[in-house]
Amino acid sequence: MKHDIVLAPSVLSADLAQLGDQVAMIEAGGADWVHVDVMDGHFVPNLTFGAGVVDAVKRSTSLPVDVHLMVERPEFYISPFADAGADVFTLHPETTAHVQRQLEQVRACGMRAGLALNPGTPLAYAEAVAADLDLLLIMSVNPGFAAQGYVPASTEKIRKARHLLDVHAGRARLQVDGGITRATIREAYEAGADTFVAGSAIFGASDPKAEIGELRNHCFPVV
Ligand code: DX5
Ligand code: ZN
Repeated sequence: MKHDIVLAPSVLSADLAQLGDQVAMIEAGGADWVHVDVMDGHFVPNLTFGAGVVDAVKRSTSLPVDVHLMVERPEFYISPFADAGADVFTLHPETTAHVQRQLEQVRACGMRAGLALNPGTPLAYAEAVAADLDLLLIMSVNPGFAAQGYVPASTEKIRKARHLLDVHAGRARLQVDGGITRATIREAYEAGADTFVAGSAIFGASDPKAEIGELRNHCFPVV
């Protein structure tokens, strides 16, 4: 599906003093989703946002809000984030003992359920719960910070993940997050990713609105 890609700017790299305006800017630039990185200082070595920020983002946009939970015990946050307006809720399998139950719970709360795999986390985790996935996130950096370099082995993992979803979970989206730039997005797209998170590449650009279009064009170069 050549044109069915989703670009999800990560507000981790936005100017947080102007969060509402920054979200409105990326919506005007053609973003498809808004990605919110929630970090707890335990699962990853950084602290960021809670449900209050998801609520503020939701009130700033009509775009789906894509929440990436890099937290221990994500089950504590399913209901609060649903109430705050999250549309996609993605958790990491190392953070909870009962991954399948939590994915079911995410759906029961009306959100799309995502599973995120760190570069060192095997794809087998996704295979075990494929029927419960609306989204599989292949991390192309070790999460915690924006503006890190794309881990090259991610491309082969995306390829294998594409195959897994095609076989077991045809409608689930395949997302990639970390180090996505003009230089890396096409490689990830060609490997089978259809949903792209980009933080520093968009908010660090001189024209963030135009950069969203540039990233899209780099998936489908004019030949
Ligand atoms: C990484 C976060 C990412 C991050 C991406 O821990 O999950 O969403 O914001 O930032 P860039 O695109 O700058 O690598
Ligand atoms: Zn993220």
